[in-house]
Amino acid sequence: MMQKRAVLLVVLLLHSHVVFASDPDPVLDFCVAPKSSANSNHSCKNSSAVTVEDFTFSGIKYPGNYSQTGFSAMPVNSNVFPGLNTLGMSFVRADFDVGGINVPHFHPRATETAFVLEGRIYSGFVDTSNRIFAKVVEKGEVMVFPRGLLHFQMNVGDTPASILGSFNSQNPGLQKIPTAIFGSGIKEELLEKAFGLSAREIAKLRRKFVPH
Ligand SMILES: *[C@@H]1O[C@H](CO)[C@@H](O)[C@H](O)[C@H]1NC(C)=O
Ligand SMILES: *[C@@H]1O[C@H](CO)[C@@H](O)[C@H](O)[C@H]1NC(C)=O
Ligand SMILES: *[C@@H]1O[C@H](CO)[C@@H](O)[C@H](O)[C@H]1NC(C)=O
Repeated sequence: MMQKRAVLLVVLLLHSHVVFASDPDPVLDFCVAPKSSANSNHSCKNSSAVTVEDFTFSGIKYPGNYSQTGFSAMPVNSNVFPGLNTLGMSFVRADFDVGGINVPHFHPRATETAFVLEGRIYSGFVDTSNRIFAKVVEKGEVMVFPRGLLHFQMNVGDTPASILGSFNSQNPGLQKIPTAIFGSGIKEELLEKAFGLSAREIAKLRRKFVPH
């Protein structure tokens, strides 16, 4: 009996390690990812070859090109900035044209703080009780989007706007709701029933949200 309990305890402990997994604590001062390597393994560049250039990044100095929704996002993670590897964080520069939107989406593995660099942005999230928390956030102000919760933004000012989003994971993940629902190939009949729309309306949405 005791033995069985001990085995159960060990199994539970092992299991909880997996369930509560988050970005691990670093075990080295830094672990610069080898050039052009994705962060899929934990190999580090030989530290005698590491320079200050590995810890600086200028790829978000200028805004990117706007999408059809008047939005541009430039994610900065260890794939583009190798010095971030294993440090448990990443960030994004996002720019909004006048009226531009960041469609409802969520990050499964990170909480995000969005600091408004320029402009006025209607920003918000929805919790798991479907309660909405939304307001206009202005230059110099910050909003936090709790991990895994649906959130969205729209530039409501009359000039372009930008934010710096910071994540407490080096790989926060991103799931855009319209694309996940209409661009992923879920059976059409299911979508018709879920949204109370006709086959024609669903087909139109599907064409619009095919991922590119
Ligand atoms: C990790 O990735 C790097 C770069 O892709 C590769 O050179 C290295 O062999 C990999 N290490 C392991 C243990 O798979
Ligand atoms: C790292 O680079 C130094 C200097 O080039 C070299 O002496 C050392 O053997 C390298 N270490 C590894 C693990 O490759
Ligand atoms: C924006 O578009 C231009 C022209 O197509 C292109 O040269 C440039 O690389 C793009 N910028 C970014 C950040 O993708």
